[in-house]
Amino acid sequence: MVARLGVNIDHVATVRQARLGAEPDPVHAAVLAELAGADGITVHLREDRRHILDRDLKILRETVKTKLNLEMAATKEMVQIALNIKPDCCTIVPEKREELTTEGGLDLKANTNFLAKCIKTLTGADLKVSLFIDPDIDAIKRAHMLGADAIEINTARYSEAKSEKHEDEELAHIINAVKMASKLNLEVLAGHGLNYVNIKKISNIKEIVEYNIGHSIVSRAIFTGLGKAVRQMKELLS
Ligand code: PXP
Repeated sequence: MVARLGVNIDHVATVRQARLGAEPDPVHAAVLAELAGADGITVHLREDRRHILDRDLKILRETVKTKLNLEMAATKEMVQIALNIKPDCCTIVPEKREELTTEGGLDLKANTNFLAKCIKTLTGADLKVSLFIDPDIDAIKRAHMLGADAIEINTARYSEAKSEKHEDEELAHIINAVKMASKLNLEVLAGHGLNYVNIKKISNIKEIVEYNIGHSIVSRAIFTGLGKAVRQMKELLS
């Protein structure tokens, strides 16, 4: 089966926020990405609203025809927003104000009770919950124990590998983690730092059913247009 491609459009909103204006509109980006074959649209509504805004999320909920994946921190505010908006998937990510992008997977040993409560509230409202975690066996087992439906493997270390040997080592960690997750019947997604080159090896892992990719697609879109950038990534996944 061909893996799904979720296109993260946060960067489009980042450009808009550079002028605090109205363009480029991430809603337009979502339409173009879907027309080019994206299987889902991902946005991260941050506490500081530095790119995606509440207005974007509301309109995307009405206009996205594929699946809307909301990346969110485990906070009371975000859980309430997810309950109101009802995205097709809630991906819980760690969030720090000072970071440029999400750094590392969730620490499932910290704040476990609160995290478990957030997951229960979301799944209790029939929302799918995915946890963004590092490719670590203990984290996979904890995600399962916490009642998540899915995990998104953080591919940052694989993507940032400086040599082929290091890349293969990181890929081996990912393969081990994916096998454990599948054994526990967790749906497996992956993302962070994936691009038109490093997607090739990782896309051979059949258990990964979806890749969430943003930076490389929006970067390529500056030169090729978004439709072509999405189509080229879809071709690599098939
Ligand atoms: N998955 C998660 C959980 C993320 O936080 C991000 C970055 O927003 C991505 C995937 C996409 O990463 P990139 O923009 O590097 O493709």
